[in-house]
Amino acid sequence: MKTLEAFGTRGSFPRRTFLKRAATLSTIAGAPWLVPSSVLGANAPGNRITVGFIGCGNQSTIDLPAFLGHDDCQVLAVCDVNTASFGYKTPDQFLGRKPAQERVNAFYASHKASGSYKGCDACNDFREVLARTDIDAVAIVVPDHWHAPMVAMAARAGKDVYCEKPLSLTVSDGQAMVKAVRQHRRILQTGSHYRSSPDYRRACQLVRNGRIGQVKRILTQVAEINAVDPGPGWQPMPVPDGFDYELWLGPAPWAPYHKDRCLYRFRFNLDYSGGQVTNFGAHSNDAAQWALDMDGSGPVEFEDLGSEWPPAGGLYNTATKTAFRARYANGVELVCQTAKPGFGIRFEGSDGWVEYGYQGLKTHPESLKTSTFGPNDILLPVSNPNRTVDAGKYHIPDHVRNFLDSVKSRRDPIEPVEVGHRSASVCHLGNIVMRLKRKLRWDPAREQFVDDAEANRMLARPIRLPWRL
Ligand SMILES: NC(=O)c1ccc[n+]([C@@H]2O[C@H](COP(=O)([O-])OP(=O)(O)OC[C@H]3O[C@@H](n4cnc5c(N)ncnc54)[C@H](O)[C@@H]3O)[C@@H](O)[C@H]2O)c1
Repeated sequence: MKTLEAFGTRGSFPRRTFLKRAATLSTIAGAPWLVPSSVLGANAPGNRITVGFIGCGNQSTIDLPAFLGHDDCQVLAVCDVNTASFGYKTPDQFLGRKPAQERVNAFYASHKASGSYKGCDACNDFREVLARTDIDAVAIVVPDHWHAPMVAMAARAGKDVYCEKPLSLTVSDGQAMVKAVRQHRRILQTGSHYRSSPDYRRACQLVRNGRIGQVKRILTQVAEINAVDPGPGWQPMPVPDGFDYELWLGPAPWAPYHKDRCLYRFRFNLDYSGGQVTNFGAHSNDAAQWALDMDGSGPVEFEDLGSEWPPAGGLYNTATKTAFRARYANGVELVCQTAKPGFGIRFEGSDGWVEYGYQGLKTHPESLKTSTFGPNDILLPVSNPNRTVDAGKYHIPDHVRNFLDSVKSRRDPIEPVEVGHRSASVCHLGNIVMRLKRKLRWDPAREQFVDDAEANRMLARPIRLPWRL
C-alpha cells in the first residue's frame, strides 16, 4: 500500500522545482488538472502558499501558529466577526481578529531584519477573504454551523480548505461539502489532527493488521459538558460593540443574543453544533472508522444506551450524557459514551486490546507497542514523514504540513472531505438515535435510515437565507 510519503514534500520549494514536480505528478496521475495560478498566488511573496485564516477564537490559538510555523506558507489575512474580546473557553482568553492580526504581524516581524511587518490584513466578513485573488487557501476555524456554507463558497471561489472538525453540522451538510470540493477540484483537509499523530496511527494500524485478533468491540469516549447552562430563566443580552452577531448566526435560525450562546460555548446548542458527541467523537469515532477500514462507509445499526438530555428551556440542549451503540456490518460493536478523561479509544479483540487517548498508547500484550510492520502489512499513511517543525502536543503542525503538501501535489491529504464527512456522520447518527431512543438501521451506501422517515428528516436542517450550500 502506498503511503502519503510517496507524495510527501518538505520545507519550501523554489517556484521552478514546484512547477516541474507538479507537472510530473499531473502526467503520472493522468489527471485532467493544471496547476491553477491561484496555487502560487498572483501576488504571493516568492513561492509561498498564501492563506486566509477565518475564525480567530479558541482553536486558532493552536491552528494559527501551526500555519505560521511552515515557511512555505504565508498568512495574508485573518478574519473574525469579533474584533477582540475576553470570554472564550476561559474568561481570560483575549481573542478575535485584532489580536490574531497582531500575532501574525509580530511573528513575521520577528523573522525580518527590519524587525517590523504590517502585511497581515484583518476583516470582519469572510467573503472579502474569498474574493482575494492573491489567497490560495483558507483555514476555517469557526463554529460548526458555518462549516458547510463556508466550505462550499470557498470551493466555488477556487480556494483549498483546511476545515476544523467536526466537518459538518448534519449528514446532508457533509454530502454538500463533498460535492462542492470535488466539483471544484479543491483540496480539503479535515482538522481531525489525531490522524497525524504517530501513536493514534499505530493503534489503528495494529487493529487493521489483526494484531489483536478479531475485533469484537470498540469503546470511544467523549467528554462531559464543560460549561454551565444559564438555565431556563436566561435573558437576552445586548450585543457587545465590535461583535457582528448577525454574521456569527449566519445560516443558523435567528435567536436573541446571549454571551453563552456564542464564543466557545456554541458547541452545547444543537443549532450550531452537536455537543460533545461531535466535538470529541470527531476524534474518537474517527479512529474506529480508520482502524476498521470504514472511511468510505459506516455502521449499519444504531441504538440508544440511556443517553441523557437537559430539561427544555435552557440555552444548552445537547446530550448531557452520551451513550449509544453502533454495529458495523461485520459484527463489530462501537460503544460511544461520556467518560473520563474525555478522549480515548479502546479496541478489544480476541487476542488483546489497544488503547489510545490523553494517556498515550497502551496495549495488551505490551509487546504490541513496539512490534514492527513488514512489507506485507497494511501501512496507514504518514502525514509528515520528514518533520521539519516541532509537532507540538497534538501534531497539528504535521496535519497542516500534510495539507500544504497536498495543495502543492494536488493529491488528497490524510483526512479528505469524504473521510471527514463519514466520521462526522457516525457522530450525527449517534445524536439522532439518542434523540429518538429507538433502534435505527442505517444504509451507508445510500446514506439513509432504513424505513424511518422521521429519522431521515433529521439528516438535514434548514439554512437561513440568504446563505446556501
Ligand atoms: N481540532 C481540534 O481538536 C479542535 C479543538 C477545538 C475546537 N475545534 C473546532 O474549531 C472550531 C472553532 O471552535 P473554537 O473552540 O475555536 O470556537 P470559538 O467560539 O472559540 O472560536 C470561533 C471563532 O469564530 C468566529 N466566527 C464565528 N462566525 C464567524 C464568521 N461568519 N466569520 C468569521 N469568524 C466567525 C467567532 O467570533 C470566534 O472568534 C469548531 O468547529 C471546533 O469544533 C477543533
